[in-house]
Amino acid sequence: MDKLIDIKNLTVGYNSKIVLENVSLTINKNDFIGIIGPNGGGKTTLLKAILGLVEPISGELCFCDELKNRRSNIGYLPQVNKFDSRFPVSVFDVILSGLAGRKSWKQGFMKKEKDRVNEIIGQLGIENYAHKPIGELSGGQMQRVFLGRAIVSNPKLLILDEPDTYVDNQFENELYQKLKELNERMAILLVSHDVGTISSYVKSIACVNGELYYHPSNMITPEQLASYNCPIQIITHGSVPHTVLKTHHPHAHKH
Ligand SMILES: Nc1ncnc2c1ncn2[C@@H]1O[C@H](COP(=O)(O)OP(=O)(O)O)[C@@H](O)[C@H]1O
Ligand SMILES: [Mg+2]
Repeated sequence: MDKLIDIKNLTVGYNSKIVLENVSLTINKNDFIGIIGPNGGGKTTLLKAILGLVEPISGELCFCDELKNRRSNIGYLPQVNKFDSRFPVSVFDVILSGLAGRKSWKQGFMKKEKDRVNEIIGQLGIENYAHKPIGELSGGQMQRVFLGRAIVSNPKLLILDEPDTYVDNQFENELYQKLKELNERMAILLVSHDVGTISSYVKSIACVNGELYYHPSNMITPEQLASYNCPIQIITHGSVPHTVLKTHHPHAHKH
């Protein structure tokens, strides 16, 4: 079977306030799903439900056997991440912590694990700041490190929550190129504001706004977005659609 996760009629919320209702989605091995939707629509909550960080109110999440150990088989890059700059942890240690699901911290990390961290550091081209404290990095450098942490265990599923916020264009291009390469060996779920940029990389799109609408291709029109109840506008430059949020009220849904 190619299925990694089957989400069936999932309802999730906080303190009995429902955020996502009756969501169903199947994640298969080769998937690269872009998740879009307005602020407060429940994108991060969906990821947290998959990661087991919030409990479903109702519905089911079925994991294939390979994903039973979610900690080491799902890589997660959380939404930014205002790291305390005084926090005395190095880039190397942050990436190493991505292997913590594998064994108890008390056992310490073996040479094999440290070699793996160095391999990732080389792959991401971040040797120059591998031993700097994390708090001294720029936004783009930080996201590279968190990507390293998310993929160091070679997970079956990689989940990224807005990795393209607060980063430079150069990193954005590098990131999507890297994700394309990673998608050859892992499924990817990517939350992004920018459907125009992600649509040349993702294979399908899910719109999340209290509910989830699955769109099986990477091409999406404003009419389709409207019918999915997703208040996002596409502005087209030539043949490449570029996207901005139609309404951007970060606190509109807060309570
Ligand atoms: N830990 C929490 N406790 C209570 N409410 C929360 C919590 N996290 C998120 N919410 C609320 O759930 C809704 C969806 O949030 P979120 O999943 O972060 O949306 P998105 O990622 O699409 O911006 C928002 O109304 C938000 O305020
Ligand atoms: Mg979010």
